[in-house]
Amino acid sequence: MIPELVFVAGARPNFMKVAPMLRAAETRRAPFASRLVHTGQHYDSAMSGVFFEELGIPAPDAHLNVGSGPHGAQTARVLESFEAWLIERGERVRGVVVVGDVNSTVACTLAAAKLGIPVAHVEAGLRSFDRAMPEEINRMVTDSIADLLLPSEPAGVENLTREGVAASRIAFVGNTMIDTVAHQLPRARALDVPLSLGLRAHDYVLVTLHRPSNVDDPARLAELVALISRVAERAPVVFPAHPRTRARLDAAGLTRTLSANQRVRLLDPIAYRQNLGLMADAKLVLTDSGGIQEETTWLGVPCLTLRANTERPVTVDRGTNTLVGDDLGLAERLVNDIFAGRYKAGAPVDGWDGKAAERVIQVLTERWG
Ligand code: UD1
Repeated sequence: MIPELVFVAGARPNFMKVAPMLRAAETRRAPFASRLVHTGQHYDSAMSGVFFEELGIPAPDAHLNVGSGPHGAQTARVLESFEAWLIERGERVRGVVVVGDVNSTVACTLAAAKLGIPVAHVEAGLRSFDRAMPEEINRMVTDSIADLLLPSEPAGVENLTREGVAASRIAFVGNTMIDTVAHQLPRARALDVPLSLGLRAHDYVLVTLHRPSNVDDPARLAELVALISRVAERAPVVFPAHPRTRARLDAAGLTRTLSANQRVRLLDPIAYRQNLGLMADAKLVLTDSGGIQEETTWLGVPCLTLRANTERPVTVDRGTNTLVGDDLGLAERLVNDIFAGRYKAGAPVDGWDGKAAERVIQVLTERWG
């Protein structure tokens, strides 16, 4: 019986993190058989299926089909279904690998830990110190019970150490999301995405928004739409909207405002390579995503983050990211600076070298092999 290593993915930002680990586990001939569980937290083709195709992720060995819902209910459904699946697999399961900070991450960690199955958390130790973020709760709970903590940036190691985690539980591996950016960039560029949308390279702004703190309050959302309209006077804006955001824009009557603006392209969620192609040639990116702060840093593209804090401080300290929080005037001034060529260039980050997944598999082989 070959021991099994179970990788968990549930939501859009998970797929690009598991893809390189599954590949590394194959090519490095790890002493495990890989299994992939899709919790079904994201289920639309645009939020899930398309990533499997583009990133070459094999069909999952199990699909838990949990779907959307309030946090407690969604987390509980993953917990219950994943526990049942693990019990069915029995002794074969050597360990579980979870990534990121979504509800599926914490639920699967809890299910495995209660069954006495070791858990490794990839992207461990990130902290925004903002408990109003559901992801912050997920990160804290996951890290407190996972056995092996695999940070993606130096702050992850520092936070865990400060929290009193033994050094033996921590192994810095770098950023598996960046592995996928590095791997996919040539293919993304070959698509000429900006051109296909009638945009000129380095002469448009990419916008993404989906955090509850930005989109769930209609007043805040209206301010952000006003900011987008002002930025669009400077350069065309392309805005692929997350389903949550689209629903909130519709409800607030703001979809009309954006659609009426000839300089704004409001799109449905786009595929991975399309997004990467757009990011790579953007003059700047305006976002509240976690992953995009990292991807723009690696690409050297200016990024303004519409949040007051970040769990990824290396993107600000070394990278091309600036937090603008609630100060939309500051955002506008920085947009002007970026167009005028006055903005930091950023520098490379340790461990963001396209080889993080190989290091994950190496660590797991040493510890669990
Ligand atoms: C989740 C993650 C967040 C991550 C984001 C990326 C948590 C707590 N949050 O937030 O960290 O940055 O994914 O996308 O896990 N919906 C669809 N189709 C789908 C999935 C969702 O239409 O395939 C809609 C549903 O109406 C749902 C809403 O989007 O209610 C929100 O989805 P949900 O998974 O609850 O959280 P996200 O906001 O996507």
